[in-house]
Amino acid sequence: MSIYGDYIKSVIRTVPDWPQEGVNFRDITPLLQNSSAFRKLIDSFVHRYQELDLDAIAAIDARGFIIGAPLAYELGCSFVPVRKKGKLPFKTISETYSLEYGHSSVELHSDAFQKGDRILVMDDLIATGGTMLAAAKLIQRSGGQVVETATIVDLPELGGSRRIREEGHNVFAVCS
Ligand code: PRP
Ligand code: ADE
Repeated sequence: MSIYGDYIKSVIRTVPDWPQEGVNFRDITPLLQNSSAFRKLIDSFVHRYQELDLDAIAAIDARGFIIGAPLAYELGCSFVPVRKKGKLPFKTISETYSLEYGHSSVELHSDAFQKGDRILVMDDLIATGGTMLAAAKLIQRSGGQVVETATIVDLPELGGSRRIREEGHNVFAVCS
């Protein structure tokens, strides 16, 4: 957890039973609307990653892009989109996974990384961990090294961060 963890958590809204009954949806739009909170959020990631000599941020479609892009800009490294199926125009590799609500596939351009590139995988939230693990697999398949997986919110009760750690990856969450 970061020094701003409690504050960031306080500006995330929980919407019960959305998009389906039983899901407590963590809505980050109030955080994004609050310029001071958004700055503190990006600063938390900059502080953690500025000395780690990353080659790229691999950010996950769609909410991961919102934090991945300013972080890549601040760190002076590449931004690589990990996209939902059918969105990338060039040659892709893909992984299918299950979600808290449904199934999906993520894709990566096959030329996104050089062998050994140091990659941070970024998303807004870890629930079951399926999305983050699928993205990490794509990066490893394309020759990249997953330095860490990072998120704004971890929902530990859904077991995702534990699963990701069991697969050998570091996990950093600003709040849970
Ligand atoms: C949400 C969230 C993560 C994922 C987490 O994305 O942004 O990517 O679910 O769930 P998991 O840990 O169980 O895999 P969603 O697929 O809803 O897409 P969006 O970002 O386009 O809204
Ligand atoms: N993605 C998967 N589960 C989620 C949740 N509870 N809130 C926001 N995004 C999610």
